[in-house]
Amino acid sequence: MCGIVGYIGHKSAAELIINSLKKLEYRGYDSSGISVNCNGELFTQKRAGKIAVLDSVIDYESLKNCTTGIGHTRWATHGEPSDVNAHPHRDCNNELVIIHNGIIENYKDLKEVLIGRGHKFLSETDTEVVVHLIEHYKKELPLLDAVIKALQSVEGAYGLVVMSKKTPDVLIAARKGSPLVLGVGDGEMLIASDVSAVIEHTREVIYLGDGEVVEVRKDGYRIYDLEKNRIDKDIESIDWDIASIEKHGYDHFMLKEIFEQPETITNAFRGRILLDEAKVKLDGLRLSDEDFSNIERIIFIACGTSWHAGLVAEYLIEEYARIPVEVEYASEFRYRKPVLKKGDLVITISQSGETADTLAAMREAKAKGIKVLGITNVVGSTIARESDGGVYIHAGPEIGVASTKAFTSQITVIVLLTVLLARKKEMSFTEGSAILNDLVKLPELVKTILSTSEKIKEIAEVYSDKSNFLYLGRGVSFPVALEGALKLKEISYIHAEGYPAAEMKHGPIALIDQEMPVVFIAPKDEIYSKIISNMEEVRARKGRIIAIATENDKDIVKYADHVIYIPDVHKALLPILSVIPLQLLSYYIAVYRGCDVDQPRNLAKSVTVE
Ligand code: AGP
Repeated sequence: MCGIVGYIGHKSAAELIINSLKKLEYRGYDSSGISVNCNGELFTQKRAGKIAVLDSVIDYESLKNCTTGIGHTRWATHGEPSDVNAHPHRDCNNELVIIHNGIIENYKDLKEVLIGRGHKFLSETDTEVVVHLIEHYKKELPLLDAVIKALQSVEGAYGLVVMSKKTPDVLIAARKGSPLVLGVGDGEMLIASDVSAVIEHTREVIYLGDGEVVEVRKDGYRIYDLEKNRIDKDIESIDWDIASIEKHGYDHFMLKEIFEQPETITNAFRGRILLDEAKVKLDGLRLSDEDFSNIERIIFIACGTSWHAGLVAEYLIEEYARIPVEVEYASEFRYRKPVLKKGDLVITISQSGETADTLAAMREAKAKGIKVLGITNVVGSTIARESDGGVYIHAGPEIGVASTKAFTSQITVIVLLTVLLARKKEMSFTEGSAILNDLVKLPELVKTILSTSEKIKEIAEVYSDKSNFLYLGRGVSFPVALEGALKLKEISYIHAEGYPAAEMKHGPIALIDQEMPVVFIAPKDEIYSKIISNMEEVRARKGRIIAIATENDKDIVKYADHVIYIPDVHKALLPILSVIPLQLLSYYIAVYRGCDVDQPRNLAKSVTVE
């Protein structure tokens, strides 16, 4: 997720754009850049680091009369954070510049063709192909038509703005899959990723739709579809304040990030599924066929929520790919004397890519000659850079300390990895198809669960005064039980433990009474009857039960005080769906308890120290 801003009007574009980018910094902040059109000359500055770094090098005095420009604050997806990978990106002759938020899925194919036509690329980004494509068509077409023609070849998601040095009175913007809003001012126009960058200048906005292109001048605009048919759209007035806008109207970043999951799960599998072959492509792993065939054991190393994702990986990869898996706490792995041998593959999981224990454990394994991969969210993070290969989860910045969308994106990537490994072994086309077809449907199923948030909020109120919780699950739902307990612990400060459901009889059952709510993850799977028995054991001791159950399961209401339903889906995908009610339950309980949900006491978003 990146932040983009375009301005055309009567004010100094450089100052206005930098100030607007600062309002979008929550969307991404690993690098930034600006281009300003001064009487037919383009002045571009780009810097790695936060916007303050870019701000410090701009000579505003020399640019004060330049009133057209574009700017970008980046959350890297392709190409690590650096000056050269920062946006805007330019064409061969520095006549065109572009800023972009999204992922161009077919950028490699396009880049190959464009290089063949003699285009020279400067960056490692996917975005740069678009400006060279426009350059190609602009030889024969006006700017607007060249942009439309170029976008007809582009696959993936974009919110973008293009500026040409030859037309300082025009900006062209387009949207498909990434948000873009047009701020309609008095003798000035702004184009931005969201209204937080616009509201200081105007509250009159037009929300662009997918497949729409807009030609913007300071005193007007024209909106088209990709066939260049004119489109009329209503101007809307914003009544939000800035603070709530960054959270898109949600009370906390955590809730915003929980509700972003349909989009972030989509971004995690976008461009990586070959449905026709029931296969998966994860080029970033940089593993040859021989490397794959030499894998005898996989060791996942992580901390916290990421460790829970590793536990899900153990269940899925062992069941479907029949490869032995170990899951290690990074802090333990780095200090004990683990037995590592040829054929071992270490995979670290880390949202931040900076967790000290995980980084140290990775270095320990590398020092022993073991190949190490990384599943991370931050492009260019230390773990990403030091791994031999890996997969980015593309969840965008996760601001809430409690990890939510990163976890479901980690699991999404783990499902992709499972299918990739399994289809190289015994998994049939049919089984692979079943998983991947359900994975593609998952974002809509997640929305179904999110629509029950009010019911979950009511349940949370009933139990927000409790002091202890137990979370129970069997099989691949056991790591979900651990994750649900961690969410509750870290944001509501209620003591909560996750256990394999059957393990309850070996001690925890002594805790059960009417003051101990028990959350069961109880999907209709092959061990459903066993989990029902565990629920009966809790009921017999007056325990109160909240059950996460498969939709249309009419029996479970006999054993639970509250039931939250999730759609039926392939078993391998259950952890992604079943965790979402637990995220919401912990969120609402914490809110009822007046806790600081986004920045819980004693916690940090990334534990970069031991
Ligand atoms: C999860 O909600 C916590 N914020 C914490 O357990 C986190 O998962 C852990 O610190 C690992 O962080 P990482 O994924 O960035 O390595």
